[in-house]
Amino acid sequence: MKKSLLKLLRCPKCRKGLFITENDSEDGEIENTTLGCEKGHTWAVKNGIPSLIFPAITEDDAKWIAEYDEMAENYDDLVKKYDEWLGIELMKEREKLAQFIPIEGPVRLLDVSVGTAANFVALYNAFEGKQMDRFNFHGVDLSLGMLNVSKRKMTPLGVDVSLVHGSVFNIPYKDKAFDIVNHSGGINTFSEIGLAFSEMLRVASPGGVVIVNDEGLSPEMRETEMGKAIIDANSLFAARPPLEHIPDKAKNVEIDYILNGTFYQIVFRK
Ligand SMILES: C[S@@+](CC[C@H](N)C(=O)[O-])C[C@H]1O[C@@H](n2cnc3c(N)ncnc32)[C@H](O)[C@@H]1O
Ligand SMILES: [Zn+2]
Repeated sequence: MKKSLLKLLRCPKCRKGLFITENDSEDGEIENTTLGCEKGHTWAVKNGIPSLIFPAITEDDAKWIAEYDEMAENYDDLVKKYDEWLGIELMKEREKLAQFIPIEGPVRLLDVSVGTAANFVALYNAFEGKQMDRFNFHGVDLSLGMLNVSKRKMTPLGVDVSLVHGSVFNIPYKDKAFDIVNHSGGINTFSEIGLAFSEMLRVASPGGVVIVNDEGLSPEMRETEMGKAIIDANSLFAARPPLEHIPDKAKNVEIDYILNGTFYQIVFRK
């Protein structure tokens, strides 16, 4: 991690700012250290990734995360199987995140449950590797396995990426830190969907945008033979957009279906 990341992070226990308590250096990448807050809470940084998780994850969440850790190395190949099955091009669709990027100026973007950083790679591709000095990419995820894959994929691209081990239920970033907050592919199975939405809205800047998509067939797709077969094969696709959990404070809420009517997408502003 870079020392400048500390300006954006907060202690997940007391919500105060964080500082480095050991191995402090002026600049450059910090691989291993301990972060602390004025209340004396401490948090490890290993391989450049701070672990900022509070409260401890539940047994149920731990099982999911163990699965993600296990599949991290093969995750990109597993997801590619969706392309042929559903007649979609997931990496191309991810490139459409570019529509939310302003034509000039800095872009502070948080991908919540960043997984293997596929959305960052897609943006890099959409911009053909240009203008990358405008971007501050931040990814948070509960699976260290996924974060390690992200780190390995992003390092050769030479773009500014910060990765944090943390939970969507208590995002360890300060309020209003991001122009764009994205989440792809996990919300259907989150235990507290309302809390996940409100945390994403909290870290968005005023006027900032929150984009959330996950498996869930469009009303039209549900009625087709293909739609029925998809739900039979994977019940996650029966999910409907969790509109009842969107915070009242969210503005300009839009619902759309993407990826050949197989995923819903919810977009709102702060
Ligand atoms: C289906 S994957 C999607 C990964 C990535 N967003 C993508 O589009 O490929 C779901 C991700 O959610 C992460 N996750 C699960 N529970 C989480 C939580 N409570 N907080 C943050 N991330 C979580 C998993 O570790 C996994 O990386
Ligand atoms: Zn603290």
